[in-house]
Amino acid sequence: MKTVLVTGGAGFIGSNFIRYLLQAHADYRVINLDRLTYAGNPDNLRDVEGDARYEFALGDICNRELVDYLMRRVDMVVNFAAESHVDRSIMGAEDFMRSNALGVYTLLDAARQRGVERFLQVSTDEVYGTLGEGDPPWTEDAPLAPRNPYSVSKAAGDMMARAFAVTYGLPVVITRASNNIGPFQYPEKRVPLFITNALDDLPLPVYGQGLAVRDHLYVTDHCEAIDLVLHKGTVGEAYNVGGENEADGVAVVEKILEFVEKPRTLIQYVKDRPGHDMHYSLDASKVRALGWRPRYNFESALRQTVAWYLEHQDWWRKIKESVEYRAYYERQYVRR
Ligand code: NAD
Ligand code: DAU
Repeated sequence: MKTVLVTGGAGFIGSNFIRYLLQAHADYRVINLDRLTYAGNPDNLRDVEGDARYEFALGDICNRELVDYLMRRVDMVVNFAAESHVDRSIMGAEDFMRSNALGVYTLLDAARQRGVERFLQVSTDEVYGTLGEGDPPWTEDAPLAPRNPYSVSKAAGDMMARAFAVTYGLPVVITRASNNIGPFQYPEKRVPLFITNALDDLPLPVYGQGLAVRDHLYVTDHCEAIDLVLHKGTVGEAYNVGGENEADGVAVVEKILEFVEKPRTLIQYVKDRPGHDMHYSLDASKVRALGWRPRYNFESALRQTVAWYLEHQDWWRKIKESVEYRAYYERQYVRR
């Protein structure tokens, strides 16, 4: 029996990963450490709450005493816990620096003292910055050149994780994934925001001219890659996880409207995101060499995501009706 400390497991990717891990490994236990920020939602894991192999610990990855206590009971760590939304980091990045940099350090140092078997840091393609015209996709050797407060805080965590491998020999592996979509994504991110707005005939706010390009990855494809890198990745190395599903903002909004059968008149071009990274693109051949392949392409990933939001309106309506969400929406879109 192995026990895995999954942090941030009440969020979007973390909750999908916990569900995946418990199904994929009958002999694994999971402890989910999550401080339940606005993005952490116990509803995301209702179906595993009753599993004897699952335990929830309410708390902060910056709390060294709590982290030390949990670390003594686990064999491996997968760190998802983070502030994850770029637009919120532009409003103010203190929480980002705390959780995404100091929090990662706290976990790493506790893991070093405990001597865990593996520590997987969930990083992001945003640490590479933005691609110039005609540049090839990033390999893992590309320099880290983050350009917004969120990606800078994630790069700090990414580099600290690598430093712990180099300096102390901690068995660290790192994944850098592209834009995930799928069930349980908080409706501040573009895809769930647009799907849920469209279902309510609300405008879909496209930043700038909708020319920024993102790669899309279905969340369970990401979960499979993380599982693989956790067990088969080379210590001290990073792995890009991209779906080879690139699309610009116009293509994404048009495809969403097609799938929800709503008119293009809902598209509203709004002021651009400050410092908007215009193109992310990953070379994922290193993780593919471990045997990983994405099961979804852009169309099937988006279709599956739209179907989930259609079928789970109680889940997202509860969030969108909350005071926290309404205050954020007004600040980000109405007073923009
Ligand atoms: P999310 O915002 O949905 O979830 C983050 C979770 O972390 C929440 O449950 C929150 O309560 C928890 N958390 C935040 N700060 C914490 C702290 N200090 N202590 C304990 N828990 C804390 O985020 P997500 O989209 O699921 O992303 C998960 C991870 O994957 C993040 O590290 C993010 O940077 C990375 N990532 C995300 C994407 C994407 O497309 N969403 C792509 C690549 C990498
Ligand atoms: O690439 C990985 C990253 O993907 C993760 O590290 C982040 O945690 C995750 O939030 C995501 O970051 P993005 O900034 O790419 O995602 P977001 O959904 O915020 O925006 C996607 C694109 O859509 C981006 O070009 C900005 C644009 N956009 C976004 C929103 C919220 C809009 O046009 N309108 C919007 O309302």
